[in-house]
Amino acid sequence: MTEETRGRLTTRTLAMPADTNPSGDIFGGWVLSQMDNAASICAGQRAQLRVVTVALDSMSFIRPVKVGDILGVYTEVERVGRTSVSVHVEAWVRRARIGIREKVTEGRFTFVALDDMGDPTPLPPEETLPDYVKENLGVSGAQD
Ligand SMILES: CC(C)(COP(=O)(O)OP(=O)(O)OC[C@H]1O[C@@H](n2cnc3c(N)ncnc32)[C@H](O)[C@@H]1OP(=O)(O)O)[C@@H](O)C(=O)NCCC(=O)NCCS
Repeated sequence: MTEETRGRLTTRTLAMPADTNPSGDIFGGWVLSQMDNAASICAGQRAQLRVVTVALDSMSFIRPVKVGDILGVYTEVERVGRTSVSVHVEAWVRRARIGIREKVTEGRFTFVALDDMGDPTPLPPEETLPDYVKENLGVSGAQD
């Protein structure tokens, strides 16, 4: 059975030679930063506020990323706390822009919503979110 992506496609980018490690593959820190960026978009929309990364768990590097691969990052809200939100994140590549598609990493990123003073602040109830966010989160009843 072919593996399916989980979550919404949040960012796409091209892996460039400047992002390689000494072995010639893409540096893991670059992939992590792409995942953190995408997860923060997802968490920030759920929070409707500035968010900061507080934790990263269950991170797996499954396959290498190569120069010329298109990296797509998929995100899905996994858990909503009082001030924190955890996001399941998967990165997939399209090899050499046009080749096969493979999952390369996955992990869970947790963010905390902060107010203007930089203090943790409660997340809004799901029903008050703008429609475009509800749609991205798959909330039933969401409209265009
Ligand atoms: C985010 C930060 C403000 C939280 O401060 P804090 O004193 O731990 O705040 P609280 O104890 O009120 O916890 C806030 C929320 O974070 C959660 N949290 C705190 N540490 C956590 C951890 N290690 N893992 C998962 N969740 C965590 C708490 O469970 C709580 O969630 P909830 O409100 O949904 O129940 C503080 O840890 C911080 O500034 N960290 C640095 C963030 C940063 O710079 N990120 C970029 C990294 S390079």
